[in-house]
Amino acid sequence: MSEYFKDIIYKEEIDSTNTYLLDNLFADRTIVYSFNQNAGRGRLDRVWNNIAGKNLALSICFLKPQINPIWFTAAIALALIETLESYGIASAWIKWPNDVYTDNGKIAGILTEGQWTSGINMKSVTGIGININADRNDLSMIDKKTTSVFLETGRSIDIKKFTEKFIEYAAKYLRMADIKSIEQLKKYWIDHSKVVGKNAVLSDIYRGSEKIYGKVEYIDNDGYLYFNDGADVFKVVTGDINII
Ligand code: BTN
Repeated sequence: MSEYFKDIIYKEEIDSTNTYLLDNLFADRTIVYSFNQNAGRGRLDRVWNNIAGKNLALSICFLKPQINPIWFTAAIALALIETLESYGIASAWIKWPNDVYTDNGKIAGILTEGQWTSGINMKSVTGIGININADRNDLSMIDKKTTSVFLETGRSIDIKKFTEKFIEYAAKYLRMADIKSIEQLKKYWIDHSKVVGKNAVLSDIYRGSEKIYGKVEYIDNDGYLYFNDGADVFKVVTGDINII
């Protein structure tokens, strides 16, 4: 497998691949993955559901990263989009800032977390949960429109092969998450973010999570989204966007 990653660790079962990398010492660019993550965490303190044996949970740690960690999220989302394309799923897009969707619903979520000391980012961990072989019944417990590679292609997927392919594409895009090629990565990310120009409803945690109706104007070069609520265009740092 790719030389980009220093180590690739498989776990039969794990609580959370993100927590494992955050709580223990590993070389820069170590991957931990499992098909049975029993206490997965999502953004904004949500739970990431486990469907044992059917889905992938994979995290990567970056020691003292020099770039804004949003670009790790972006690289991982783009790696998944290219992996999905290789399985004939051409319709995947990024729902700012960290979800990957097809037109049938959410197929993956990404969580990037960091450990900071005196203003220095000591460690970033980016984890992705991908619905691979989950069927309708497995996904029925999730309260939003959700899909999987199985549902998109109509065939059962060799989860190990899928993971290997995804890791290759992850290396390709993470190599771009570097000062020298970041402009290219930004362009790809913005090109695949379907929310730009769309009417949407925003829940912004800095605004008490109230629902705000309006339009997504653009995503800037630092990865922030600008939202027009009809009176004002303002920057959204952390929030949820849903196209309406
Ligand atoms: C979200 O949609 O809110 C983000 C979900 C992120 C889930 C992944 S699965 C691998 C890694 N380990 C975790 O505990 N969470 C992330």
